[in-house]
Amino acid sequence: MKLLVIGSGGREHALVWKLAQSSRVEEIFCAPGNAGISGEVVARSGNPVVLVPTSADDIHGLLEFALRERVDLTVVGPDSPLALGVVDLFQNRGLRIWGPNQKAAQFEASKVFSLEFMSRHGIPTARSGAFEDPDSAVAFILSMGGRCAVKADGLALGKGVVLCSNEREAVGAIKEIMVKKAFGEAGRRLVIQEFLEGVEVSLHALCDGRTALLFPTSQDHKQAFDRDKGPNTGGMGAYSPTPFVSEEEIRSIQRTILEPWVSGCAAEGIDYRGILYPGIMLTKEGPKVLEYNARFGDPETQVYLTRLDNDLVDLVEACLDGTLSDSVLSWAPHVSVCVVLASGGYPGAYSKGKPIDGLTEVGKMDNVKVFHAGTRSEDGRVVTHGGRVLGVTAWGSDLGKARDQAYSAIQRIQFDGMHYRRDIGSKGLNILREKQSKE
Ligand SMILES: Nc1ncnc2c1ncn2[C@@H]1O[C@H](COP(=O)(O)OP(=O)(O)O)[C@@H](O)[C@H]1O
Ligand SMILES: [Mg+2]
Repeated sequence: MKLLVIGSGGREHALVWKLAQSSRVEEIFCAPGNAGISGEVVARSGNPVVLVPTSADDIHGLLEFALRERVDLTVVGPDSPLALGVVDLFQNRGLRIWGPNQKAAQFEASKVFSLEFMSRHGIPTARSGAFEDPDSAVAFILSMGGRCAVKADGLALGKGVVLCSNEREAVGAIKEIMVKKAFGEAGRRLVIQEFLEGVEVSLHALCDGRTALLFPTSQDHKQAFDRDKGPNTGGMGAYSPTPFVSEEEIRSIQRTILEPWVSGCAAEGIDYRGILYPGIMLTKEGPKVLEYNARFGDPETQVYLTRLDNDLVDLVEACLDGTLSDSVLSWAPHVSVCVVLASGGYPGAYSKGKPIDGLTEVGKMDNVKVFHAGTRSEDGRVVTHGGRVLGVTAWGSDLGKARDQAYSAIQRIQFDGMHYRRDIGSKGLNILREKQSKE
C-alpha cells in the first residue's frame, strides 16, 4: 500500500512512525514533513519515507500529487486542511482519505457550531453564549460577573481563546477579537463561556460514523512555563494514561459525552470518520466539554502511538469502511511521556536555523523516541525550523520512570535557545503520591 500523510509536526512524525511499522505498507509520502519524518524507513519494504514539498493547506496540490502517484490511502494530520475540505475533495475523485469531511470538521472549525450542537443534544459544557455583535457579548459578560473564557469562533492557531478574570479584561478581549479583528474572519463570531474550575484532560475517540472507540486518557500542558504559568502554546508536553480519571468518570464520559455525541451526529446526518478529540474539564459537577478538535492532539499523539499495539492502517481502514465495532483497541500497559523542546521565544517570535546536537546519541537510548516537529535538514545537519522543535517521548512501567527517562534523554540534546517545561507529568505524580499516602 502507498500512503500519503499530510502535515509536518510532531503529531505527523508519530503518525508516520507508527504507519511505517504496518505490515501492509510499502511506501509513505509526507507533505511537507520534517527532518525526522524523512529519517523514517517503512518496515516491510525498507523504503525511506519521502517528503513532498507541498504545504498542508494546498489541498489542490495534494490532490494532484495523490492522483499522479496513485496513492492508496491519505491520512490527514492537522485541522486546517480538514476545515478546507480536503476529505471531500479527495473523495469526489474516488481517493481514500482518512479524516472528517468538511461538514464534520466544523466541530473544530466553529466553536459556535459545537456549542449549538451540544445544547441540542444535552452534552455537558460550560454555561455559554454565542454572539455576532460586541454589544450583546458585553451584556452577557456583565451578567456573568467577568470571570470567563472569550473564544473566537473559528480556527486561530490555538491563540483564539482569552481567559479573563474580570469584566475589564473580558470587554478588552471582545474588542480585540470583534472590533480590532485580531484573528480576522475567525473572530466574526464569539463564544463566551463561564470559567470552569477543575483538572483538564484530553480525550480521543476513533469514529467511523456509527461507533466511537475511546482511547485511554491523556493530559496536555498548554502553558509555556512550569506550574502552568505563561502564555498558551500548542502544547508543551503530555502523558498517558492519567492516574486521576476513575473508572466511574470514564463511564460518565461515555454516557454523558460520547454517546449523545454519536447519536446527535447520526440524527443530524453528520458522517464523522476520524478522531474526535474533546478537551474536557473534570469539574465538581462532572466532566464538561471545553471544545472539540477534529484530529489527533499534538503532543497527545506522540504518547498514544507509543502505547498503541494495533496496526494503525487496520484502524484507519475500519473507520473508512464503517467496521470499527469489530475492532478492539490494544494498549501497552506502560506509561508514555512526551516533553516538547521549544525554540527560544516560543510561543512568541523565535529564530530558526539553529543546529541541533545529541540526536544520534539519544537515538541509541532504550524506551525513547524523539519525534521531530519544527526541524529541517540543511547541509546534512538537522536544524530548528519552528516553535515546537522536538517531542522527546519515553515510556516506562510507571509515570515516574517514564518521566525520568524522557528528562535524561533531554540532558543530551542541545540547541541555541532551547527551552522546555521541567514539570510534565507532575500533576499526575502529585495525585498518585496523595493517593498512596492515604492508603
Ligand atoms: N470555560 C473555560 N474555563 C476554564 N478554562 C478554559 C475554558 N475554556 C478554555 N479554557 C482553557 O483554555 C484552553 C484553550 O481553550 P480551547 O477551548 O481548548 O480552545 P483552543 O484549543 O482552540 O485554543 C483550554 O485548554 C483550557 O485550558
Ligand atoms: Mg484546545
